Amino acid sequence: MTSFKNLTVLDHPLIQQKLFYLRDYRTNNYNFRTILNELAGLMVYEITRDFPLAEREVTTPLEKTTGYVLARPITLVPILRAGLGMCDGIMNLVPQARVGHLGLYRDKKTLQPVEYYRKFPSDLENSDVLVIDPMLATGGSAAAALDFVKQAGARWIAFVCLVAAPEGVRVLEERHPDIPVYTAALDRELNEHKYILPGLGDAGDRIYGTE
Ligand code: PRP
Ligand code: URA
Repeated sequence: MTSFKNLTVLDHPLIQQKLFYLRDYRTNNYNFRTILNELAGLMVYEITRDFPLAEREVTTPLEKTTGYVLARPITLVPILRAGLGMCDGIMNLVPQARVGHLGLYRDKKTLQPVEYYRKFPSDLENSDVLVIDPMLATGGSAAAALDFVKQAGARWIAFVCLVAAPEGVRVLEERHPDIPVYTAALDRELNEHKYILPGLGDAGDRIYGTE
């Protein structure tokens, strides 16, 4: 439980154990990518628990019966680069998911998000949209991403991250009070460079080996 109304911390033991290895500075890029994808899949397994279902008729080798499928398609919107590092793990569970890409980087001086790429599926309004980024620091990137998906027509949206700073959660609560935020950890604070403490460092660099 946290004091943030918009925030759910996913405390499943397997999620917490995988996060432990991601935080460790000795975890190499290959292991970081592998564990991040596994963790993202587990998170989405938990998040989709209450997603609406639609009844469908199905014919087994023996007879007709009714079964259930997701009522709406799922669209992932990873915030590049680091959000991409969570997509394969989610698509292993939801292979039908569509992916809209959003390229944003945090300017080193202003710390404001700068957009460099945007390509969404055309019918976001009929989809459950998961905006994905491992790190919610100042909240600038996440808030901008949510502005973009709302402008594109999305109605059912959640923000999924791995590690959140209280500052970022507060920004989303103010700018997007209607959006649920899911995280594996609510960390202590941001440092003077707006990195999350204790955090796990620069997620993009750790995924792609660019540090
Ligand atoms: C990181 C991270 C988020 C953003 C979070 O991306 O993946 O997108 O910073 O910071 P904020 O909450 O203060 O906006 P970065 O800008 O480093 O780009 P990258 O994914 O390409 O490394
Ligand atoms: N972006 C990251 O990758 N890590 C942080 O701690 C903050 C922003």
